[in-house]
Amino acid sequence: MTGRFIAVEGADGTGKSTQARLLAERLGAVLTREPGGTPLGEMIRSMVLDPDGERPVDRAEALLIAAARAQHVAEVVRPALDSGRDVVTDRFIESSVAYQGHGRGLGAAEVAEVSAFATDGLVADLVVVIDVDDDAARDRLGGVLDRIEQAGDGFRGRVIEAYREMAGSDPDRLVVVDGNGSVEEVADRVAAVVVDRLAGT
Ligand code: TYD
Repeated sequence: MTGRFIAVEGADGTGKSTQARLLAERLGAVLTREPGGTPLGEMIRSMVLDPDGERPVDRAEALLIAAARAQHVAEVVRPALDSGRDVVTDRFIESSVAYQGHGRGLGAAEVAEVSAFATDGLVADLVVVIDVDDDAARDRLGGVLDRIEQAGDGFRGRVIEAYREMAGSDPDRLVVVDGNGSVEEVADRVAAVVVDRLAGT
């Protein structure tokens, strides 16, 4: 039996990385992240997110992230699923559609196609989108911002809107979870949604 593949998604500052970790702990799942998840992927992550490095042009950014994704799926995600383990990933294809497709304006369909090539067609069984009030997200951002986090409020707005739109058009696979409240409250909501949606799979 293959494992279940869950992506935790959301704009920067939504607390999604914490929620991905807690969900993986609850399910006893493999926890991984993008861009990254493999040594090559983590190198690509630094290339893409380091604010001091050469700035990749938008298409290069999309392709670098897709290359990291190809490696991640082939080396980590598919082997784990094939061995029957559940996998929780902190970001996956929907991040590319939101950030590169809508945020950078490269086009949702084009970016989705690049990702489909990278993953050889693998998509998450369930995508949990953490959604918080914009002010809360901006407050949580703080600290040193990576290159994409520095893109500004207009970009952020397009990303947030893109997630809502994707969830609206694919409600069987994407579910929005209210990320306002304490870490424990949100974790309980996420767990409830996952149990509900993936019961019997
Ligand atoms: P993030 O996952 O938020 O990590 P941290 O919690 O350490 O900040 O940061 C990853 C950044 O990469 C985030 O700004 C979104 C961006 N990103 C894309 O633009 N496209 C993608 O496909 C992925 C996976 C991430």
